[in-house]
Amino acid sequence: MNIKNKKLLNLVKSIFVKHKLNSYHADISAKALINAELVGAYGHGISRLKMYCDRIKKNLINPKPRIKIKKISRSISHIDADNSIGFVAADIAIKTAIEHAKKSGLGFVAVKNSSHYGLSGYYAEQAIKKNLITMIYTNAPPAVAPHGALKSLFGTNPICFGTPTGNKVPFILDTSISKINRGKLRFAERNFLKIPKDVALDKFGKPTNDPKRALQGVQLPIAGFRGSGLAWMVDILSGVLTGGNHSGRVKDPFEDFTGPQNIGHLFITFKTNLFVKDYNKRIKDNIKRVKQLPKVKGMKEIMYPGQNKYKRYKMNLKKEIKISKIIKKELEILNN
Ligand SMILES: NC(=O)c1ccc[n+]([C@@H]2O[C@H](COP(=O)([O-])OP(=O)(O)OC[C@H]3O[C@@H](n4cnc5c(N)ncnc54)[C@H](O)[C@@H]3O)[C@@H](O)[C@H]2O)c1
Repeated sequence: MNIKNKKLLNLVKSIFVKHKLNSYHADISAKALINAELVGAYGHGISRLKMYCDRIKKNLINPKPRIKIKKISRSISHIDADNSIGFVAADIAIKTAIEHAKKSGLGFVAVKNSSHYGLSGYYAEQAIKKNLITMIYTNAPPAVAPHGALKSLFGTNPICFGTPTGNKVPFILDTSISKINRGKLRFAERNFLKIPKDVALDKFGKPTNDPKRALQGVQLPIAGFRGSGLAWMVDILSGVLTGGNHSGRVKDPFEDFTGPQNIGHLFITFKTNLFVKDYNKRIKDNIKRVKQLPKVKGMKEIMYPGQNKYKRYKMNLKKEIKISKIIKKELEILNN
């Protein structure tokens, strides 16, 4: 079934309101989910709506959080999200980081007691629109085995770096440290799809292209010990530093209903002109030099990170959003 994105937005918003989020928080959360659909990150879109609602019903996500922002200096704030839905905590955090950077040049905002916030790049876009560079980190439930370990502990812990480019398409490197992100695995499982064979092992340590077996086993980090090291760095920055859970203690939102997730996030924003006056000119020159390189056979364009998602977003905006029968049924039940 296909549905207009505005209609789906209103439906998702009303479902969140039915689950006791206030209208403003429901709007923030619904917009983040629809954006994930529009950029093609289906594993982080409405396929997660039921999970958020289940966790709200079980009081593991607080629909009426009392979010506290502790200002530490002109640049630094620490947010206690009171187990709010992650979208709301992240929205407040990036806005606070932007405000700090506009005033002092740098924004450094840590968040604890949060939950899954979706796509880091979505928040990066907000900072870039204000002409700021940004770096964003969040940890996630165990999915990836640390290099040399037999058991998952790190999350797919995305690393996000974004900068204005001097043109309308931002540079946003927003990547999981696993070969496949967990949302894609869950999406494949729900839709009976296969996954590539080199991205995960089953619980016996054998490569598998079956997403169900991969979810029971371990996901592989990008680039071996290097990816494992990056995952660890993200766990330290977003978990150890912020007061959030870390070292494998973040609960899986789909499977573990024994307590809130207490995910940590870190939002860093800074002005582009801290050290040079002509950043715009320099970044344009940088991108131009990369793009002008001779290309390998079959490659039409050397793209910078974020370009593909921007194109997909613009294209999808004109189309209706496709939802599966399973999701349609879930939406009907949640809206009752
Ligand atoms: N909240 C969480 O717990 C959590 C955990 C993991 C991932 N995520 C999110 O999931 C999303 C998807 O992650 P992913 O690892 O699947 O991303 P991906 O593999 O789709 O893309 C990774 C990066 O590579 C860039 N890219 C892709 N194709 C390219 C090309 N041909 N040329 C140049 N650059 C290219 C993309 O723009 C992106 O910046 C991210 O937004 C991430 O924040 C969230």
